[in-house]
Amino acid sequence: MVVQEIAPGIFSVGALDHDRRLFDSLIPLPQGTSYNAYLVRGKTKTALIDTVDPAKELELVTNLVKAKVDTVDYIIINHAEQDHSGTLPMIAEIFPGAKIVVNDKCLDQVKHLLDIEEERCMVIKDRDTIDLGGKTLEFILTPWVHWPETMVTFAREDRVLFSCDFFGSHYSESTLRVVEWGEIYRASKRYYAEIMMPFRSSVRENLEKVGTLDIRMIAPSHGPIHTEPRLIMDAYRDWTSDTVKNEVVIPYVSMHGSTEKMVNHLTDALRERGIRVLPFNLVVTDIGDLAMALVDAATIVVGTPTVIFGPHPQAVYAAYLANLLRPKTRFITVIGSYGWGGKTVETLKGMLPRMQAELLEPVYIKGAPGAQDMRSIEVLADRIAAKHREIGILGKG
Ligand code: FEO
Repeated sequence: MVVQEIAPGIFSVGALDHDRRLFDSLIPLPQGTSYNAYLVRGKTKTALIDTVDPAKELELVTNLVKAKVDTVDYIIINHAEQDHSGTLPMIAEIFPGAKIVVNDKCLDQVKHLLDIEEERCMVIKDRDTIDLGGKTLEFILTPWVHWPETMVTFAREDRVLFSCDFFGSHYSESTLRVVEWGEIYRASKRYYAEIMMPFRSSVRENLEKVGTLDIRMIAPSHGPIHTEPRLIMDAYRDWTSDTVKNEVVIPYVSMHGSTEKMVNHLTDALRERGIRVLPFNLVVTDIGDLAMALVDAATIVVGTPTVIFGPHPQAVYAAYLANLLRPKTRFITVIGSYGWGGKTVETLKGMLPRMQAELLEPVYIKGAPGAQDMRSIEVLADRIAAKHREIGILGKG
């Protein structure tokens, strides 16, 4: 990645990872990612904000050489997860005089994850500052955005917020003015869904906290820099709000076509009633796309046949994921068919303890769906439409 001066005396020195396709052995990365790190030069001191994933350690070191850095006084660790802190041991060795700036929760993590000696660390509290000579760095604790130790760093004079995961996106770009907002919006929403949504209430609180700052630029540690902070902050306000949209997400799987026929009939019936429907065939679905759809939808309908005694394993995976991500969904139900019996609906219900959605009457039928079953699907569409009207997201039919 190029070294770019993003503000006077502030340089982007991180690394792009354009061909990485999976994060945490779980999250698909269709556009790769970046591990952004920033160098802040004051008149008397120099700080490095975050490092990079160990796979890209040589790029960080090369960029520091390109930026002609001969000393680093502070290494600021906003977040202990290794995609940002993993190169800390190497950087700490290269710059033995540098203090490692952490909060108390982060100290615990860097000691255990990275074997960092406590004596090297400077432990800061919420709103503490350090002076680099004409540049003041303020530390603001933002717990659970993404881990309990996460914090952001604000360069007061330049009004740049170094937000680490907060406002980030898995996108292989980290410089200025090269990506359209629409593209950043989509990548950021996907990132929010995958990483931040389980902590929605904490994210909302921390959004208010950083919203009091006079920010000119947000420099996250994944993806492009935000030069119009209002856009991404408004998007976060929308995603973290309690407001749901007139949308039904249908993650489904079908073995011999019965569940698929029911899903297709429900999709048509809901669309006829003025509801946006987002069906996802779980056999071919990118789970990041599914997570993104869950951010706003008022209703989830899981479509699954019974396999032996319970839901299809693909449906189990989707339900487990939804329970982890904990979207603000208001209504949930199940449709599908079985051959000789089983406990599919009960099993799925038991898998969603974190979801606070109202369970609507499932449509679970024996064998292939007949005319009466399709009428039951239409009744379900009526019920969903009525619920959407009740909460004010669908006009009167
Ligand atoms: Fe990008 Fe939570 O690490």
